[in-house]
This record gives sequence, structure tokens and C-alpha cells, in this order.
Amino acid sequence: MKFFIDTANLNEIREAHDLGVLDGVTTNPSLMAKEGIVGYDNVMKHYRDICEIVDGDISAEVIATDFENMVKEGDELAQLHPNIVVKVPMTRDGVKAIKYFTDKGIKTNCTLVFTAGQALLAAKAGATYVSPFVGRLDDIATDGIALIEQIVQIYQNYGYPTEVLAASVRHVMHLVQCAEIGADVVTCPLNVITALLNHPLTDSGLAKFLADHKKANG
Ligand code: E4P
Repeated sequence: MKFFIDTANLNEIREAHDLGVLDGVTTNPSLMAKEGIVGYDNVMKHYRDICEIVDGDISAEVIATDFENMVKEGDELAQLHPNIVVKVPMTRDGVKAIKYFTDKGIKTNCTLVFTAGQALLAAKAGATYVSPFVGRLDDIATDGIALIEQIVQIYQNYGYPTEVLAASVRHVMHLVQCAEIGADVVTCPLNVITALLNHPLTDSGLAKFLADHKKANG
């Protein structure tokens, strides 16, 4: 399973990259705004900076909502770096844009997916990744993990090459459940990746090993 970090924060991206387990980055307009990245030139520079840190797929989301402008914006984003994946919302124009980018050999990530039907459409249009939002479904008392399982099964049934990118992953349990049911990728904040390291028995076990070593060796 690939690990993507879900942030536009360069320090967090560097930290996850330094751990040696990072396969890519996802951003969205809210994450870019949170970092104060505004204006066309700054946004483009920021995506280039991310591409310099991580040698893996970097999702950059279009802001336009109509087909013509989505395509214009996506073409510009794709020209920034070969690792840029154009992130497109699941809308009528978005699906058309995904088909357009697929035909041009540009990678896409279909975002804001909340049903298996939407995921099927994204795969039919040739999306490289589909992003079902696990946490946001859980927020409305709907089983986000069950949706991932459903999409994985549907893609397997027909051999769709679209990768299931579990998004809106909020904690370790989400991440591990995604791994159990065969999601291709999870994207999550840095704290979820680093939380994978932790267990109190690891800490107490290491403390005991070191104490015993010290006692025996003086
Ligand atoms: C990533 O592709 C999504 O935009 C992101 O995971 C959404 O996460 P959130 O629901 O925590 O905002």
C-alpha cells in the first residue's frame, strides 16, 4: 500500500519524506489556503517545491468548475512537473475533464467521491486515482471503510486500473482497515503516519532492554 501525506505544509512533507516511507502527496484548496499559499505564481511555485522534496505522485487540485477552465488549469498544472496528478472533483464537467486528461496521458485524481457509483464513473473515465473520503462519511454516521471495500471489489471485478486512494483518513484504525481491505493508497496527515510508530510496550520494552544492558555492562 502506498502512503501519501495529505498536506501542503513543506516541513511536514519533509518530515514524512525523511522517514523513508512516503510515496506521494495530496493537497486540496483548503490545505493550500491553510498554508497561506495564494495567487497563481505562488501556488505554482509551491507545487514545484513539493515536487522537489518528494519523488512521487503529487496531487494538485483545479479550482475551475467548468470543463473548459478545468482543462486549461489542469494542462498548466501538468506542465509543472511529470509527477503532478491533476485533481478533479466528481462532477459532470469533472468526469469529462478526467476523460480529456486520460486521453492526453495526464494523470488524474478524482476527488470528493462518496458513493460506489461515482467511483465507477471515475474509473470509466480513466482516472489514475479515485479518492473516496472515509472520515467525512464517518462524520455523517455512514461507514466510510465499507465504501472503500465496495470500490476495491468493483474495480477487481472488471480489472479497472484506477487506484483506490482512501482519503480523509483520520486515524491509525482507518489506515489499518484500509490496508486490510486492499486500498491501493491512503492519504493522511503526518500525525497519523507517525502514530503508526507507537505502542507503550515498545517504549517499556526498549527501556528494559537498555536498563538490562547497562546493568550487565556497567
Ligand atoms: C485528500 O485528497 C482530501 O482532500 C483530504 O483527504 C480530505 O480530508 P479531510 O476530510 O480531513 O479534510
